[in-house]
Amino acid sequence: MSILVTGGAGFIGSHTCVEMLEAGYDVVVVDNLYNSCAEALHRVEKITGKSVKFYEGDVCDRALLRTIFSENEIEAVIHFAGYKAVGESVKKPMMYYENNLISTIALINVMEEYGVRKLVFSSSATVYAGDNTVPLTEDMKLGAINPYGKTKLFIEEILRDLCASNSDWCVALLRYFNPIGAHKSGLIGESPKGIPNNLMPYISQVAVGKLEKLNVFGNDYETRDGTGSRDYIHVVDLAKGHVKAIEWTLGNTGCDAFNLGTGKGTTVLELRNAFVDVTGIDVPYVIAPRRAGDLDEVYALPDKAKRVLNWQAELTIQDMCEDTWRWQSNNPSGYDE
Ligand code: NAD
Ligand code: UFG
Repeated sequence: MSILVTGGAGFIGSHTCVEMLEAGYDVVVVDNLYNSCAEALHRVEKITGKSVKFYEGDVCDRALLRTIFSENEIEAVIHFAGYKAVGESVKKPMMYYENNLISTIALINVMEEYGVRKLVFSSSATVYAGDNTVPLTEDMKLGAINPYGKTKLFIEEILRDLCASNSDWCVALLRYFNPIGAHKSGLIGESPKGIPNNLMPYISQVAVGKLEKLNVFGNDYETRDGTGSRDYIHVVDLAKGHVKAIEWTLGNTGCDAFNLGTGKGTTVLELRNAFVDVTGIDVPYVIAPRRAGDLDEVYALPDKAKRVLNWQAELTIQDMCEDTWRWQSNNPSGYDE
């Protein structure tokens, strides 16, 4: 029996493949390599000493999905495949609705055809409405403000309706906070194409000399030092959360949402300073205007994941900085080396 991982060559997907293989599962990956490369999967194999069966192709392609389900005994699916850049989704909403929604609908239909009804879905903290108080709990008001976030919200709704219609289904909606860091080996990590949108890859590319300085987007937020605060979670902790979520789906039915975060906020300057302390490398910065759509402070209450999934984050901000730097300094151009 195998677990199908869509988008398994990507940042979170590749780390999750490692943890699934190390937990004893066989892994089948489908990825169209739109935002990743096959080298990530070779490295997963190098880390674990186990093989990954890889299908290069699009999750929207039902014929391909049928081939995968026919050729393998798939027990459950982890669905990472999708586009994730918030700014791009505002400029090209149809590209986001098409890829994220159509791929999910195709996947659910083919899963149903093959009687596979266990699914772990990559949702996001971005599904929470901006006017909630922190920490965020799973029952708080939902409401995304950009097309990317709306795709996550719509897919959550689709999956809730699906589970309500057939009690054989079990779906875990995992709401990730801010995944950063890399595997301890330094062999896999985040390899964004072009200039990074997110804070940690930006910091590490300044440190490695690819970018000149960090722009800190606003210092007048209502936080400890005025810069935006987020719940950064080590990608390996996040990946382990998927192993627990798969175990939960295999033994349960219904649909439930879980925050995967640490429960702690860290500001932009705190993260930048931690990175400088851990690596000994300077990261020059300037204060820049606020970025549209950013909130003051976002962090999770992760108690439900602890109670129901028996999972909690263990790694620290220092681990996240150290592991990001090992990956970035060993692979200055990511997988393009
Ligand atoms: P990523 O871009 O590194 O991984 C996504 C993978 O999916 C890529 O390898 C890409 O090539 C593949 N893909 C995209 N569309 C596809 C399609 N139609 N068919 C086949 N493969 C396709 O992103 P990531 O950071 O690993 O994120 C994984 C998931 O987690 C995404 O759904 C993302 O929206 C979600 N998420 C990410 C974050 C974050 O900050 N990284 C936060 C919350 C949620
Ligand atoms: N920031 C900067 N400079 C940068 C980049 C970011 O100051 O160059 C600041 C932002 O203003 C924010 C913080 O760093 O205060 C974190 O920003 P990120 O872009 O790294 O992360 P976000 O919290 O904005 O969003 C991320 C993903 C979303 C996801 C969300 C919750 O990009 O897709 O986490 O999971 F929905």
